[in-house]
Amino acid sequence: MSRRIIPVADLSAAPVISGPLQTPSGALHDTLARPLRDLRISVTDRCNFRCVYCMPRAVFDKDYAFLPHSALLSFEEIERLARIFVAHGVEKIRLTGGEPLLRKNLEFLIERLSQLTTPTGRPLDLTLTTNGSLLARKARSLKDAGLSRVTVSLDALDDTLFRRMNDADFAVADVLDGIAAAQAVGLAPVKVNMVVKRGTNDSEIVPMARHFKGSGAVLRFIEYMDVGTSNGWNMAEVLPSADVIARIAEHFPLAPLEAHSAAETAQRWGYADGNGEIGVISSVTRAFCGSCTRARLSTEGKLYLCLFASAGHDLRALLRGGASDADIATAVAEIWQGRADRYSQLRGSNMAEPGAQDARRVEMSYIGG
Ligand code: GTP
Ligand code: 5AD
Ligand code: SF4
Ligand code: SF4
Repeated sequence: MSRRIIPVADLSAAPVISGPLQTPSGALHDTLARPLRDLRISVTDRCNFRCVYCMPRAVFDKDYAFLPHSALLSFEEIERLARIFVAHGVEKIRLTGGEPLLRKNLEFLIERLSQLTTPTGRPLDLTLTTNGSLLARKARSLKDAGLSRVTVSLDALDDTLFRRMNDADFAVADVLDGIAAAQAVGLAPVKVNMVVKRGTNDSEIVPMARHFKGSGAVLRFIEYMDVGTSNGWNMAEVLPSADVIARIAEHFPLAPLEAHSAAETAQRWGYADGNGEIGVISSVTRAFCGSCTRARLSTEGKLYLCLFASAGHDLRALLRGGASDADIATAVAEIWQGRADRYSQLRGSNMAEPGAQDARRVEMSYIGG
C-alpha cells in the first residue's frame, strides 16, 4: 500500500492576494520585525541514506510514496521564484533535500542561481547541504557551476556507528573523501554538521573535534530536534550544547568567538591555540527564533515559514496558474508580512508541547534542514 505522511494540512488553493501589488524593496519584515534574508530550497524529497533521526526505514520504506517528478518544481520555476525572493532581500540560498545531489543535473540549477545578484549588485552566498556520499564525484562540477561552498552532514567517525546511523551501509571513508574533494576545489569554508543524540553518538564528539581541528573544515554540533513526527524524538536524547563544549574543553581549551551576524544559527568557539573553530547549534536549549530570517521552499513549491510549520503556502499553484511575477512577489510579501512563527522559542517556554504526538509537522527530508 502506498502512503504519504508528509503533506500535512494541504493548502491546495493558491495564496490569495488581499492588498495592492507590492514592488519588492529588499526590505520585507514579518510581524516580529524579522527580515527575509535566507531561502532554503529543497530540490528532492529522496535520499540514499535512512538516518534514524530523519528518515527512519520503518516509515520511509519501499512502499513510501515519494513525490512524482511532475510535482517537483522545475529548474525554471525554482529560478523564477529565487529571483523574486532575491528582489525581496534574500542574500543566501541553500539547496537541500532529501539529498540534493540526487537531483539530476543539479549543476544546471546552480549555474542559473549563481547568476543572481542582490539589489545592490552583490553575488549571493550559494550553498548546499549534503550527506557527502556523492560529493567526491561532484565537487568539481558543483564548483565550476558556481556553488560558493558546501555543508556536509557527518554524525560519527566510527564506521560501524556511522553505518548504523545512516542505516544504508554508507562508509565514513566516502564522506571524508567528499569533504577532502570539496576542500581541494575550493568549496570553502566546508562546514561539517553533526547531529548529537545522547546515548547514540555522543561518544564521537571528542574524536570528531580532534579529527577536524586544524583541518580548515568547521565542525558544528547540532542539538537533536523534534522535527517532523516520524523520528520518535525524546528530550532525554538531547545533549545540551553546553555539555558538548564542556566535553571538548576537557581536551582542547576553547574561547567564545564573535558571531559573524545576528542571524547566525551557530555559536562559534575558537580553540585556544588558534588552530580552528567549532560551532554549536542549540535550537532546543537556546532557541534563535528572534533572529530567524529563513524561509523554506519545499520540493513541490510550498513556502514554509518555519522548520516546525504544519502547512505551507502553495507557490507552485501560482506559478502554474499563470500568475505574473508582480502577483507572486505580492503574495510572498503578504505571506512574510503575516509571519509570526517562533516554534523553538515557544517550546523552550513550554508554550508548545515538544514532540507532541498530535502535532502534524512536516518532515526534515521534505523541507530540508
Ligand atoms: P551557515 O552557517 O551559513 O552555513 O548556515 P546555517 O547556520 O543555516 O547552517 P545549516 O544550514 O548547516 O543548518 C544547520 C542545522 O541547524 C540544520 O540542519 C538544522 O538542524 C538547524 N537549523 C538551521 N536553521 C534552523 C532554523 O531556522 N530553525 C531551527 N530550529 N533549526 C535550524
Ligand atoms: N535534529 C537536528 N538536525 C537534524 N537534521 C535532520 N534531522 C534533524 C533533527 N531531528 C540535520 C541533518 C543535516 C540537515 C539536513 O539536517 O544532520 O545536517
Ligand atoms: Fe538523508 Fe540528510 Fe535526512 Fe540523513 S539527515 S536521511 S542524509 S536528508
Ligand atoms: Fe526559525 Fe522556526 Fe527555527 Fe524558530 S523554530 S529558528 S522560527 S525555523
